[in-house]
Amino acid sequence: MTPIQLSKHLLNITDIEAEASRLMEPGLRSNVNDGVLNNETLEANVDAFKQLRIRPRYMVDVSQRDLSVKVVGGDTIPMPIAGSPSALHKRFHPDGEFATGKGIRQKSTVMILSSYSSITIEELAAAEPDLIKWFQMYIYCDRNMTIDLAQRAKQSGYRALVLTVDYTTRGRRYHDIKNQFKNIYPKVNYNRYNVSQLSKVVAKDNVWRDIRWLKETTGLPIVIKGILTAEDARLAVDNGADAILVSNHGGRQLDGSPATLEALPEIVEAVGREVDVYMDGGVRTGADVFKALAIGAKVVFVGRPVCWGLICNGSDGVRQVLDILYNELDNYMTIAGTPTVGDITRNHIRYT
Ligand SMILES: Cc1cc2nc3c(=O)[nH]c(=O)nc-3n(C[C@H](O)[C@H](O)[C@H](O)COP(=O)(O)O)c2cc1C
Repeated sequence: MTPIQLSKHLLNITDIEAEASRLMEPGLRSNVNDGVLNNETLEANVDAFKQLRIRPRYMVDVSQRDLSVKVVGGDTIPMPIAGSPSALHKRFHPDGEFATGKGIRQKSTVMILSSYSSITIEELAAAEPDLIKWFQMYIYCDRNMTIDLAQRAKQSGYRALVLTVDYTTRGRRYHDIKNQFKNIYPKVNYNRYNVSQLSKVVAKDNVWRDIRWLKETTGLPIVIKGILTAEDARLAVDNGADAILVSNHGGRQLDGSPATLEALPEIVEAVGREVDVYMDGGVRTGADVFKALAIGAKVVFVGRPVCWGLICNGSDGVRQVLDILYNELDNYMTIAGTPTVGDITRNHIRYT
């Protein structure tokens, strides 16, 4: 990958978070940065990484390193780091998801477009034909709408569908209630559907066989996002899931649910030999990526860091977030004696 020019003042994700937080008005800042109820799970996501230590191995030839991994859909990406879906990027930058897509495409990794994006499935595809795009969706009460969205993603060249299963209703976001937060953004058409309140349209009667229905109807690989237990991972795979994205929605749904790093081992153990296991939640450094990979994640996704980069500096900010994580991971792999991502094993970590 090409060497990067980092902004002198924004060296790491903590700097970018602080700068983005300064730029956002308080209601939006809380909506993005906070979770639900007491932020327990939100904080646990970040803290869980601190419970692990890296066990470096020396005198290993690390002169050539390879951070690339193959993902569902058959694409190989140059680093095990990609962008989680998040809603309405025009709140963060006038170019919205166009800028996000450009920044991610410049690093040749995956962008998961939220179904609540401020541009449509087709607009992103037309602007960024070379970007590896996956489409995040729900199973909606209106099954025709569900299939229509999935087919539109397929026709526009999206490589996988990411089905979010942890949104049976909206989590209790006291922060937003206190702030009387209302999204203020330019007119958004929610992928052409006039949907004002997500929790009213997402189905509550989903069952596992809906995965197979979606897969057979579209022929696209299905990634199940929001899994936190071995039992659900098993059911998802038995019903046709091609990959699991271990996630607690960034602590935005069920406060008290496990940190994703805590949930990861049982899920890797249950299905990691059959399908890819991805994770998101609390990843802020290359060391975090290293630790998640050591437990068995194949790729980590980042949610807020992408939003923060976008807020700070549009597409360049998004690219910079990915550059930082890539460079930190490469640095860790060099020092810890793991020249390829496949070399990172459980022996390279220990619990404190
Ligand atoms: C502002 C914001 C909006 C989000 N919107 C969505 C969404 O539309 N669909 C979805 O599946 N997840 C959504 N998420 C959850 C993310 O995909 C991801 O699971 C989470 O942000 C990962 O944690 P992290 O922010 O600590 O990296 C959103 C998260 C944030 C912060």
